[in-house]
Amino acid sequence: MKEIAVPANQPDHTSPIPGAQVVVVTGASGGIGRATARAFGARGANVALIARGTTGLDAAGAEVRAAGGVALAIPVDVSDAEAVDAAADQIEETIGPIDVWINVAFTSVFAPFTEIKPAEFARVTEVSYLGYVYSTMAALARMRPRDHGTVVQVGSALAYRGIPLQSAYCGAKHAVQGFNEALRCELLHERSAVRTTMVQMPAVNTPQFSWVLSRLPRQAQPVPPIYQPEVAARAVVYAADHPRRREYWVGASTVGTLAANALVPGLLDRYLAATGFDSQQTSDTRPADQRANLWEPADGPDGRDYGAHGIFDGQATARCGQLWASHHHGLLGAAAAAGLAGAGALTATWCR
Ligand SMILES: NC(=O)c1ccc[n+]([C@@H]2O[C@H](COP(=O)([O-])OP(=O)(O)OC[C@H]3O[C@@H](n4cnc5c(N)ncnc54)[C@H](OP(=O)(O)O)[C@@H]3O)[C@@H](O)[C@H]2O)c1
Repeated sequence: MKEIAVPANQPDHTSPIPGAQVVVVTGASGGIGRATARAFGARGANVALIARGTTGLDAAGAEVRAAGGVALAIPVDVSDAEAVDAAADQIEETIGPIDVWINVAFTSVFAPFTEIKPAEFARVTEVSYLGYVYSTMAALARMRPRDHGTVVQVGSALAYRGIPLQSAYCGAKHAVQGFNEALRCELLHERSAVRTTMVQMPAVNTPQFSWVLSRLPRQAQPVPPIYQPEVAARAVVYAADHPRRREYWVGASTVGTLAANALVPGLLDRYLAATGFDSQQTSDTRPADQRANLWEPADGPDGRDYGAHGIFDGQATARCGQLWASHHHGLLGAAAAAGLAGAGALTATWCR
C-alpha cells in the first residue's frame, strides 16, 4: 500500500472545522499513530498530532490536511506530564474541546533483559507506560467536567503475554492494561459518560523495527502475520466510535495468542523460548548506522521522514477478516442464536 501523496505548498492553517470532532493522537509522527491521524483527517476531523520529531510531525500534519482534516502538530515528549497538559490546553484553545484522545506513543529496547541498563528500562517505562498515564490524566481533566469524551489506549497482544527480547515493553503494556481496567471501573462507578477502551494489536509494519534501540545481532522484525498500519488505524477509529466495549482484539494472531495464553501459558513459555529469538529477527545483519529513538527522535539530523509504513511492505497485508468479525459480533451472535453453532463459537472466541 502506498503512502498518501501530499500536494506541495499545503497551507499551514489550523482553523478548526466547525462542528467536526477534535481528536488527539499521540505518537502521530510515524507508524500506527500516523495512519490513525490520517484516517481521522479523511473524516474531516480537527486532529492534534503529538510526538517529538518535527520532520515526521510536519509530514503527518500535511497528510491530515491532504486527506481533508485540520492538523495541529505539537512537539511533546509524553513522558513529561506538564508538557502533555500544556499541549492539551493549546489544543483546546486552538481547535476546540477534545472529543477523543488516542494514546499510541511508545518506545522499547530490543534486547535480552540482562542486556538492558536500568536507565533504559526506566525510560521505556516512562514513555510507554507513564506517557499513557499522563496523557489520560490530561484528557480526563478536560472530559470529566463536561461528562463527554473517549480515550482509546492502543495496546498489544503483549499486554497479556510477555515475549523474550521485549521485557521493558511487555511490562509497560501489561501496566497500561491494568491501569486502564482500574480507570474503567472508576468511570463506571461514577456513572460517567466518559469512556475508555483498549485495542490490542497484532504485528504491524511500522518504523519501530528500524528506530527502536536494538542490541540484537540481526534486523528486528514483527512476528508474522504482519498487518499494515491502515488495518490498525481502522480498528482504532472503530473503537473510538464504539467505546462501550472494554477491549478490542485485532488479527487472528492476537486472538490465538491471547487464547493460548489463557489456556496453556506454560506451554507458550516453552514455545516462545524455542522460537521467539529467531522469529523477531530477519536473516540480515542489523545496520550499523541504525538510529535509536529512546532518548530523542530518530528523524532529527538528516530530516528523514520515516512515514507510517516500515520496511516490511512486501510481507504485510492490508486485509483483516477477523476485524470485520470483531466489529460485527452482534450479527454473528444473532446467527448463532438462529442455530448456527459454529458461528456462535467463533464470536465467543473473537469478541470480548
Ligand atoms: N508495530 C507493531 O507491531 C505493534 C504491535 C502491537 C502493538 N503496537 C502498539 O502500537 C503503538 C504504535 O506502535 P508503532 O509500531 O506504530 O510505533 P512506531 O512506529 O515506533 O511509532 C512510535 C510513535 O511514538 C512516538 N514517540 C516515541 N517516543 C516518544 C516520546 N517520548 N514522546 C512522544 N512521542 C514519542 C514516535 O515519534 P517521535 O520519535 O517523533 O517522538 C512515533 O510517532 C504502540 O503503542 C505499540 O505498543 C505496535
